[in-house]
Amino acid sequence: MTAPTVLLTGGAGQLAQAARPAFERQGWTVVAHDIDELDIRDRDAVFAALSALRPRAVLNCAAIRDADLCEVDVDNAWATNDTAVHTLADACAEVDAHLTTISSDYVFDGRHDVPYVETDEAHPLSVYGETKLASEAVAQQGFTAVRTAWLAGRLGANTIKTMLRLADDPERQMAFVDDQRGSPTVAEDLASVLVRLTAERRAGVYHVTNSGEASWYELACHVLDSAGHDPARMGRIATDELDPPRAATRPAYSVLDNAALRRDGIPALPDWRDAVAELVRDLVADGGYLR
Ligand SMILES: NC(=O)c1ccc[n+]([C@@H]2O[C@H](COP(=O)([O-])OP(=O)(O)OC[C@H]3O[C@@H](n4cnc5c(N)ncnc54)[C@H](OP(=O)(O)O)[C@@H]3O)[C@@H](O)[C@H]2O)c1
Repeated sequence: MTAPTVLLTGGAGQLAQAARPAFERQGWTVVAHDIDELDIRDRDAVFAALSALRPRAVLNCAAIRDADLCEVDVDNAWATNDTAVHTLADACAEVDAHLTTISSDYVFDGRHDVPYVETDEAHPLSVYGETKLASEAVAQQGFTAVRTAWLAGRLGANTIKTMLRLADDPERQMAFVDDQRGSPTVAEDLASVLVRLTAERRAGVYHVTNSGEASWYELACHVLDSAGHDPARMGRIATDELDPPRAATRPAYSVLDNAALRRDGIPALPDWRDAVAELVRDLVADGGYLR
């Protein structure tokens, strides 16, 4: 039997780089395209690529993921994070490929003080959150929309790498906010579940994060500690003390309960503390945080 093919869009991003080996381990052939090879906003190019490749599945990792940028580049945010996802869905339907697309905890307004389940009402506070919520409508076409959060992997850019670089300078003042709580998630852990959801063509909206919750300050302390730095060097501030203030409003609380995975009997991902400690050890061991 020939190996199934998956097309990864946004192929140079951190999640796509984690997804490639996860699919390959399960026997998939992976074709990864970033914007230079396939701009997902280009409807003709998307249809042509899928009709030439005829993949079994598409994992859409392409996005404008910078929420502050989305506030100023609003048209591009909608074109990339919403319209293009619907284009991918239409093209997938034509060739009977399954689409899995990635959404975000920023679809919620953060007024909860207990973790959000998939069926909780979404109410985004930012353009980024609005575009992601709109894109999730592809779940009603039989496709999969996965909400994840606070992502960091071994390859690509992320905040944990930034924390480690800052910590290298002993003179550096560091502070992260202690009044935003979420679900830190390691890209490689997320990728393993994405392969399963995609292979099994599980339609609907899924929350997929590492277990547990943290503030950015707590995450930063754990990153320093895991790297052998003194966590007491980390300062804590409130969101309204950020200078300059961020353009996009973040939810104060966006912890995701992975209820749909539980319902489907899919094992929970490890606690974020263990996953992040392992990630940090790897990033320090091979200098990956400097790249
Ligand atoms: N990172 C997080 O904390 C986080 C949290 C929740 C959800 N997510 C979602 O998870 C997914 C993967 O995120 P990530 O962290 O891997 O992001 P990433 O590293 O920024 O990767 C996204 C990739 O998509 C590319 N891209 C942008 N516009 C494109 C277009 N029109 N056509 C094709 N490719 C395009 C980007 O290129 P450029 O770099 O040149 O723009 C980048 O290489 C995204 O949907 C993101 O919104 C991320």
